[in-house]
Amino acid sequence: MEVLCARRTVPERQIRTGRDNFSPKMKRSPFHPPPARVPFAAMIEFQNLRREYGSLVAVRDLNVSIPPGEVYGLIGPNGAGKTTTIRMACGLLTPTSGGVRIADVDVHSNPELAQTNIGYLSDFFNVYDDLKVWEYLDYFAHAYKMPEAAIAARVEQVIQHVGLEVKRDQFIRGLSRGMKQRLGIARAIIHKPKVLLLDEPASGLDPKARSDLRGVLLALRDEGATIVISSHILSELEGFCTSIGVMEKGVMVRSGRIETITEQETRFHVIRLSWIGEAAVADILGKVAEVSNVAVSGPEAVFRFAGPEDDLPNVLAALLSSGVRVLSFGEVKQTVEDLYLKLSHNEVM
Ligand SMILES: Nc1ncnc2c1ncn2[C@@H]1O[C@H](COP(=O)(O)OP(=O)(O)O)[C@@H](O)[C@H]1O
Ligand SMILES: [Mg+2]
Repeated sequence: MEVLCARRTVPERQIRTGRDNFSPKMKRSPFHPPPARVPFAAMIEFQNLRREYGSLVAVRDLNVSIPPGEVYGLIGPNGAGKTTTIRMACGLLTPTSGGVRIADVDVHSNPELAQTNIGYLSDFFNVYDDLKVWEYLDYFAHAYKMPEAAIAARVEQVIQHVGLEVKRDQFIRGLSRGMKQRLGIARAIIHKPKVLLLDEPASGLDPKARSDLRGVLLALRDEGATIVISSHILSELEGFCTSIGVMEKGVMVRSGRIETITEQETRFHVIRLSWIGEAAVADILGKVAEVSNVAVSGPEAVFRFAGPEDDLPNVLAALLSSGVRVLSFGEVKQTVEDLYLKLSHNEVM
């Protein structure tokens, strides 16, 4: 399936805008083959992006650079500034200062060109209830000024892509929320944008619909789309995002690839163990210098270990040599949620 092709081909537009200084005539000449595509260093770039509402600073001077192909989770509680950021990124809202570049195009000074690269799904989207699914998509394909001859096939393609084949001829008013959400995504990708900006797409969906949505977004990611997805439901981003940005009160608390942030923030290992019978585990662990925050609950404990991983077996050996009948002993892997809780409460910074 070919929905987004940002990574694979030289976009027409890129050549036409003179990015590589190639005239159409030169392009056709066999002696002047088009140059290899230079990938964008950043597909999405927020540059000192700021938005004020009167005296309230909703978004405070964000500087974020998102490379192509990332799935960037914008995480934060209500009021953090996620919607304001996304609306500025898609050109719907003018920044008080600073700007946004998408696929190397300034969203606010060159809006028409920028729109060709952007697909946007708002947090509340009211679809046109009296249209059928295919009519709705056909309408937007025209609104995006897609070539007439390509529209019918593209409509069928996106319907298939989001799994709405059986609803193709139904009125939108009869669709479930999950189906409407899929339709919203189909609309957002109809013109093959390189970037998808999705504001809380999973809120209000039941677990099945949420998991379906995830499948659709993963497929888009695999085809090379760069996706920003905002959420205050952290678990829905688990195992899905390649990078995250944590926002709080308009400030980007931390932003980057998940592995990098995890590495930077994990200054200790979290270990969970269980045992059989009575044992003074807290006392034994208390004697190990690198161990802290021991929490015992019945025949189980969780603690922090600040030493190198190689020294962890020594902790287990100490427990065993003290007669503790250890049943399990292992590291608790940090989830996106753990990371978020740490970052947002400034626990580790
Ligand atoms: N049109 C507006 N006028 C005044 N204040 C607004 C407006 N839109 C958002 N805000 C305020 O800006 C802050 C950020 O809001 P928003 O971007 O919607 O956050 P989020 O999407 O993270 O919940 C909030 O304090 C909100 O009340
Ligand atoms: Mg919001």
